[in-house]
Amino acid sequence: MFTAESLYSVNLRMKAVPLTLAILKETAPCERRVAAIPETIKKYVALGCVVNVQQDAGTEASYIDNMYKDAGAVLCASAGDAVKDADIVLCVQAPDNATISTMKKGALLIGILAPYKNADLIESFAGKGINALAMELVPRITRAQAMDVLSSQSNLAGYKAVLDAAEHFTRGFPMMMTAAGTIPPAKIFIMGAGVAGLQAIATARRLGAIVSATDVRMAAREQVQSLGANFVMVEDEETKAAETAGGYAREMSDAYKAKQAALIEETIAKQDIVITTALIPGRPAPRLVTAKMVESMKPGSVIVDLAVEQGGNCELAEAGKVVKKNGVSIIGHMNVPSRIATDASALYARNLLNLINLIVDKETKTLNINWDDDIIKGIALTRDGALIHPQFGGAKAAA
Ligand code: NAI
Repeated sequence: MFTAESLYSVNLRMKAVPLTLAILKETAPCERRVAAIPETIKKYVALGCVVNVQQDAGTEASYIDNMYKDAGAVLCASAGDAVKDADIVLCVQAPDNATISTMKKGALLIGILAPYKNADLIESFAGKGINALAMELVPRITRAQAMDVLSSQSNLAGYKAVLDAAEHFTRGFPMMMTAAGTIPPAKIFIMGAGVAGLQAIATARRLGAIVSATDVRMAAREQVQSLGANFVMVEDEETKAAETAGGYAREMSDAYKAKQAALIEETIAKQDIVITTALIPGRPAPRLVTAKMVESMKPGSVIVDLAVEQGGNCELAEAGKVVKKNGVSIIGHMNVPSRIATDASALYARNLLNLINLIVDKETKTLNINWDDDIIKGIALTRDGALIHPQFGGAKAAA
């Protein structure tokens, strides 16, 4: 049976019409990243694609229009101009409704589409016949590592969190022995030792701090220790099953949470800086740092809550704000990868290029999506007007 895609591919082959890609200027608040950089534009052009780049798309990430033009892109004055003939639209976050309405039926939209938050939007992709792929759902299998946007972005967020803490910390990180006396090293506690947490440990260590970390997954112990940090953890029967097959943490029982809270309470009072990164996929972030724990910290201490957009690990953190309680600064910056936009865009753009290489046939230069591929099955939200992802109601639609 011919699908809209296969007919379209045949059509393209007959007419030898090049695939058109569109790169948008992001419109979400606090979003400075861009979905393609001049380096990846050159690769798309070499693949035979026409690449439309909306003016100023990369400006906030320090990729200026002329760099895109020199790389072979066609600059477009508006989002509508960029997407109207595009077969593939690349974005960081989902575009606004006006842009989506301008996309042609059957076009692919690829980005960090936040399906957990944007149920209505996903329905609208289906309604408009847009085939949407959500990059944050790339499965954690070896073959997909080069497309794993959660890893590429969390790694940078972990790094930046330490620098954000340093900015608000009124002391230094390393021990300094001077003629005027000795400055003690800062003590930093990292909660959640996944991708962001491990990079935060490495960065804090490089700056000379004494670092300890915690997690609920046993596998984290060795990784934390290999970076030269102390591992602190409540270990019991439950932790043996705390990690899912996908490598993520499960939500822990109330009994475990109580034991963990006691350990954290004791540990936190001795820290200068706490960086929290704990997440559970599809669930609110676990609440790990209470107001009472914040109160136990010395004035001048700093907490960075990287989970603030998922509800926060720290009870007092506020999304998009730096709040002060009893002399403790609690940093709740939104979209931390965007705060290091040049590198975050470069890594994200390469993640997307690796996906495009999977779905574009290099010989025929046409779209050739294998919808049965585990990577595609993991990320495909909508296809040919239907919601198909089982996690978001697709099984019902398919039944
Ligand atoms: P994440 O962003 O979902 O969570 C961050 C960290 O918080 C995790 O280490 C998690 O165990 C921890 N956490 C959750 N609940 C907690 C609690 N109540 N108390 C303390 N810590 C808690 O996870 P992330 O960073 O995406 O990585 C999860 C795992 O996946 C890691 O082991 C990572 O190495 C692995 N991974 C595997 C990849 C692959 O391709 N095979 C690629 C990237 C990561």
